Amino acid sequence: MFDLSTFSLKDKVAIVTGGSRGIGQAIAYGFAKAGAKVAVTSRKAQDLEATAAEIKAFGGEALVIPAHLGKAEEIKKVVDTVMAKYGRIDILVNNAGASPAIASVLDSDERLWDTIMNLNLKGVYFMSQAVANVMKKQGGGKIINVASVDGFNPEPFVSVYSISKAGVRMITRSFAMELAKDNIQVNTIAPGPISTKMMNSHWEHLSPEEAKKQKDELCKMLPTCRIGEPDEIAGAAIYLASNASSYTTGTEIIIDGGLLLGMHLSA
Ligand SMILES: NC(=O)c1ccc[n+]([C@@H]2O[C@H](COP(=O)([O-])OP(=O)(O)OC[C@H]3O[C@@H](n4cnc5c(N)ncnc54)[C@H](OP(=O)(O)O)[C@@H]3O)[C@@H](O)[C@H]2O)c1
Repeated sequence: MFDLSTFSLKDKVAIVTGGSRGIGQAIAYGFAKAGAKVAVTSRKAQDLEATAAEIKAFGGEALVIPAHLGKAEEIKKVVDTVMAKYGRIDILVNNAGASPAIASVLDSDERLWDTIMNLNLKGVYFMSQAVANVMKKQGGGKIINVASVDGFNPEPFVSVYSISKAGVRMITRSFAMELAKDNIQVNTIAPGPISTKMMNSHWEHLSPEEAKKQKDELCKMLPTCRIGEPDEIAGAAIYLASNASSYTTGTEIIIDGGLLLGMHLSA
């Protein structure tokens, strides 16, 4: 008979990249509430400390590791720090991502390409590689990559981001294929619009009227007609991180309020 405790993350050691705010923070809180020891990493130590303090306030355990995840030496630092503290890594969530500028395919420059690809793609690949080597030695683990609906259908003026997220989906499939025999399950979560700093930065530079117009346009494509909350991603992450997903690998959970279903609603 199915055992509900397979959803528990009790005593598992997790790394959540980009865990200082938004979707990563919601996943970190969810993991800690499910019993995991959570290492949160991103660039700004102050934001990480605030997240860790919140986790500790509800009785969880958190480790803060400031790092720029677009750089190989910083990735090594994160893995070494977690291993020095806990001696194992059961769960990795590659959530940190950036979409720093709106630009046409006609003038997206090399700097934008490198900024996005170094974090969203190179960082995910090499973080997965470093952690998978640990997981293989310890007999298994879970890797969850946060892609985007933009990795399925390109969004105008964020081509480099969309390309990077399509690549994240293939990182999942490549690692899942090779590592299934090592009891390492690798899966993707692909969010649609979720209310975070990244999402809200789309509207910030617009007049209130223009922002409302764009939100209304988005709403017309969304069967649920609302932007999601970071907490609405955490449950799927807990499932994919837990023993409940032991036969789930190389697949994708799309959490988009029906956006991909509703692409034609606005027509
Ligand atoms: N929000 C959405 O609508 C949406 C939709 C689809 C997919 N996603 C994906 O979901 C993930 C999380 O996005 P979010 O909306 O929660 O974004 P967010 O609120 O902007 O949070 C991004 C996180 O990544 C960290 N980060 C950024 N650059 C970094 C770097 N170079 N090194 C290490 N950490 C870095 C940030 O902290 P620091 O700035 O301190 O480094 C922060 O913790 C991203 O992969 C994003 O592409 C989001």
